[in-house]
Amino acid sequence: MAKDFFDEIIECLNAEGAKHKTVSLSEATAREFFMDKQASPFVPKTEVLQPAQQRQVQNNRPAQQRQKTQPVEQPVSKPIPQPQVQEQNQAQPVDFSKLDLQTLEQTALQCTRCPLCKKRNNVVFGEGNPNADLMFIGEGPGYDEDKQGRPFVGKAGMLLTKMINAMQFSREEVYIANIVKCRPPGNRNPLPEEAECCLPYLRRQIELIQPKILVLLGAVPLKFLLNKTGIMRSRGHWEKFQGLKVMPTFHPAYLLRNPAAKRETWQDLQQVMTIFGKAHKK
Ligand code: URA
Repeated sequence: MAKDFFDEIIECLNAEGAKHKTVSLSEATAREFFMDKQASPFVPKTEVLQPAQQRQVQNNRPAQQRQKTQPVEQPVSKPIPQPQVQEQNQAQPVDFSKLDLQTLEQTALQCTRCPLCKKRNNVVFGEGNPNADLMFIGEGPGYDEDKQGRPFVGKAGMLLTKMINAMQFSREEVYIANIVKCRPPGNRNPLPEEAECCLPYLRRQIELIQPKILVLLGAVPLKFLLNKTGIMRSRGHWEKFQGLKVMPTFHPAYLLRNPAAKRETWQDLQQVMTIFGKAHKK
């Protein structure tokens, strides 16, 4: 089987002396780019980034706050709380602005604000470094995430992890969350009313984590966080959310179906890496 595009990037970056040199992708990967086009003899080049160890992130946060920046060990699986189901219009009054991350998570674990709570096995609150500079936002939990109570742990999640690693970050260094915390049936997109019920959790997560950059994965976070449609047009273009820099790009599940789009996604991610001093421009 041909190597995944992001595997190759990671391999190249990890190879001795990879720093500052140009990486040639294998023919197989190059062909993957063009699988929906005419076969092309062109082997794309991609820029090489600095290894993770040499990362120099400009960090403007106070030292005190930074000391807390320990990656959080996430359990493989979380217990399954079984809340009483309330009717949708009986949303609990919660002052989200008063909640710290832990209390916010506890509140989410018992949430019955929308009907998605009825079918869930686990609330997928989000995970990662509570002081992350980089935050990824997806749509909502799928089958695997609902089972494990963790975001992006299925096939799309494996690809997201590779994308994060290719960006010279570890999963533990970043924070990963979703628009909705409970699985929509059949993996359909969240409905506007479900997203509306759930967004106060995400907004508060962003407020507390204060990342420097949000990466929006696909059309759903673009729609519900920025009120924009058209991921094809918007990807790769910087946006703002409450003063934060936002980069919309393709969802990893889309990339699994359309591997050729990994090339554009990598370009989007490299823009993010540039901000962190990780991308090397020729
Ligand atoms: N897709 C998402 O958008 N989020 C997940 O957590 C998993 C798959």
